[in-house]
Amino acid sequence: MKINKYAWCFTFLVVMTSQSWSADAKNGQVLAGACSVCHGVQGLSMAPNTPNLAAQPSMYLEEQLKNYRSGQRKHEVMAVMAKPLSNSDIENLAAWYSSLKIQIVPND
Ligand code: HEC
Repeated sequence: MKINKYAWCFTFLVVMTSQSWSADAKNGQVLAGACSVCHGVQGLSMAPNTPNLAAQPSMYLEEQLKNYRSGQRKHEVMAVMAKPLSNSDIENLAAWYSSLKIQIVPND
């Protein structure tokens, strides 16, 4: 019983630390150079048919990029962009875009 408890704590610590190591926003910023023509240097889109990525939750961004990569979400350009990305590239890109802060100005 006692051993199990320690084993659980240890697993928890490993998961926590590996998560903070795996998502590297700095590396994501470098990778995002390839995306900035369309999505903007700060994740604010350069064209009306291109979505903003700044401040989107990393979980959402990761899911979309994996869906483009697998073909589950279809878009010609994004399929080409997502194809060469590894899982850690995707995590880093998502960490970068989600780390950007946006401010909403109320419309009233
Ligand atoms: C040539 C322009 C272009 C480039 C370069 C590009 N994108 Fe996109 N991206 C788009 C367009 C257009 C869409 C909307 C596609 C759709 O309708 O599904 C999009 C959609 C996305 C979405 C989904 C956003 C949402 O709100 O659902 C993500 C995430 C994304 N791009 C990430 C990236 C990343 C990361 C890169 C660089 C590796 C990149 N894109 C490069 C044009 C581009």
